[in-house]
Amino acid sequence: MESGFPAAVFTLLGELPKETWCGSDLYNLEGFWYASSLLPAIMAARSNFRANDCDVFLTSSMKTGTTWLKAIIPTIMNPVGRTNDDGHDPLLKHHPNELMPSLEAQLFKENPNPDLSDMSCPRLFRTHVPYHMLPETVKNSACKIVYITRDPKDTFVSLWHFFNSLITAEGNDPWPMNEAFESFCRGVHVFGPFHDHVLGYWKESIKRPEKILFLRYEDMKKDPKEQLRKLACFLGKPLEKEEEVDRVLWRCSLERLKHLEVNQRGVDPWLGFDYKFYFRRGSVGDWKNNITDEMKEKLNRVTATKFEASGLGFGH
Ligand code: A3P
Repeated sequence: MESGFPAAVFTLLGELPKETWCGSDLYNLEGFWYASSLLPAIMAARSNFRANDCDVFLTSSMKTGTTWLKAIIPTIMNPVGRTNDDGHDPLLKHHPNELMPSLEAQLFKENPNPDLSDMSCPRLFRTHVPYHMLPETVKNSACKIVYITRDPKDTFVSLWHFFNSLITAEGNDPWPMNEAFESFCRGVHVFGPFHDHVLGYWKESIKRPEKILFLRYEDMKKDPKEQLRKLACFLGKPLEKEEEVDRVLWRCSLERLKHLEVNQRGVDPWLGFDYKFYFRRGSVGDWKNNITDEMKEKLNRVTATKFEASGLGFGH
């Protein structure tokens, strides 16, 4: 196979523990599960990416509200986002994925050494890799890391809906929710285990709060203005006027984004996913409409055990 990736990467794939998940193979590297289509890029980014102090990294496990922040962070950082010039809002023409490129799904996907020299400061990136897999310069430079997480029950439900929508849109059978649930509780899912992912960033954010801002989807929904102000200050771009806060929140709202043509009709060119699947209900507690009491209790037990003594919790 012709590729710029070292052959050793593909040899390694054959040696890693493997599980089938939602019809695809996942490989376990250093305790976390990755899709084979992304693992070479993840390894290349880890070795070859060089962070600048001005960079901003959005990090998350999947389906925790990342798309909301993929819209908010560029809006805060981009001077146009802060003016009342709605006509030039980049979100009108671009899905949030395009405003914060992914290391593994975009920049390093086809090329282990992409030329990023034409990106100007502040560079905005995102990744789903766990903390320990971040490139060393991301951890050690002065760049900022924003982490977003969410109640594991809502995360699971969102994950199931997302992948189930993708596979049924391609004419495949639905993904049995029980099967997906058991895998999630075992930590077998793309970029899982969820709880270990959260803990890695949580612990680091306690040690270095000036470096990593740890956000929860539930707090964003409950008090979006306060969370937005906190985020803007962390990024060194405080929002002073109430109207600026309102404008950013409106531009990045689920209601607005999900009805924009680009998001209704567009397709992610790197992943092949319809953009519309990134926007669903966006509510807190949607698990109540989707999983049984027994499933709730099981996942709560996993969460309590994993987060014990960490100071982290999501309520019940
Ligand atoms: P639901 O599936 O519960 O509706 P991610 O962006 O990490 O893939 O997470 C997807 C979840 O975030 C989905 O949750 C989606 O509806 C929600 N979401 C997407 N854009 C949002 C926005 N602008 N505001 C709030 N929630 C949003």
